[in-house]
Amino acid sequence: MRTVRVIGVGMGNPRHLTAEAVDALRSVDVFFVPEKGSAADELVALRRDLCRAVIGTDDYRFVTVPDPPRDRSTTAYAQAVQTWAAARGDVLLETMEAHLEPGQTAGILAWGDPAFYDSTLRVLDAGRTTGRLEVEVVPGISSIQMLAAAHRISLTRVGQSLQVTTGRRLAEEGLPPGCHDVVVMLDGRCAFQHVGPDGVQIYWGADLGGPDQAIVSGELGEVADAILARRAEIRSRRGWVMDTYLLRRGIPHR
Ligand SMILES: C[S@@+](CC[C@H](N)C(=O)[O-])C[C@H]1O[C@@H](n2cnc3c(N)ncnc32)[C@H](O)[C@@H]1O
Repeated sequence: MRTVRVIGVGMGNPRHLTAEAVDALRSVDVFFVPEKGSAADELVALRRDLCRAVIGTDDYRFVTVPDPPRDRSTTAYAQAVQTWAAARGDVLLETMEAHLEPGQTAGILAWGDPAFYDSTLRVLDAGRTTGRLEVEVVPGISSIQMLAAAHRISLTRVGQSLQVTTGRRLAEEGLPPGCHDVVVMLDGRCAFQHVGPDGVQIYWGADLGGPDQAIVSGELGEVADAILARRAEIRSRRGWVMDTYLLRRGIPHR
């Protein structure tokens, strides 16, 4: 049996790591990282820097795992992602079994926290359910928490619920009915532009915790253009940008 530690590493800054994450990083023999290209490879480089900064020895290795292609032509998005996760699981298991002795510990560094829009645990499911892998999870600071801290707000209001969704869903379905606080992630197309702005506040953050951190907040109708401009500026300088935002509506009196 091989043990895999899925370690949430926050936004790549060593100061975001919990003490438990540091201990987990130091326990790993081999880190497995997906090879995806472009922006993702920059994130792989950040992960290596993070290990160098906190582990303090060099008795660990990095092994890159080839990423099978995803079918982007289909409209059945969820099905395509599920099929892709299964294919990634097969490749990851084969790579782990080739590079890790039984009894050794594998590590996978999850950006932010592995509980939010991160496929690692799903990819490892087959290995776990067939008894080939023991999976452990160390939580990390998510971009969602970084967003709240940067704006000095609580994401939840008294007795209210919070929904976390994707830019794709927001673009297709609009703001979920009955939900007044919605965190939006994975939004490459700025879906907030298509939300009726009346009575909606936005708290937006890009590269949270990183060197290009930018935040903007205010009435959606008044600040949307400023957000688009900030986002475009970071993207043109860096080649990519990651952003997250909260949309907050007034709660009608009951
Ligand atoms: C694949 S998801 C991973 C989320 C991650 N597991 C987390 O806990 O933050 C990637 C999305 O997270 C958000 N994100 C990740 N890093 C970010 C950052 N530094 N600043 C703002 N948003 C970020 C963006 O919405 C991005 O599209």
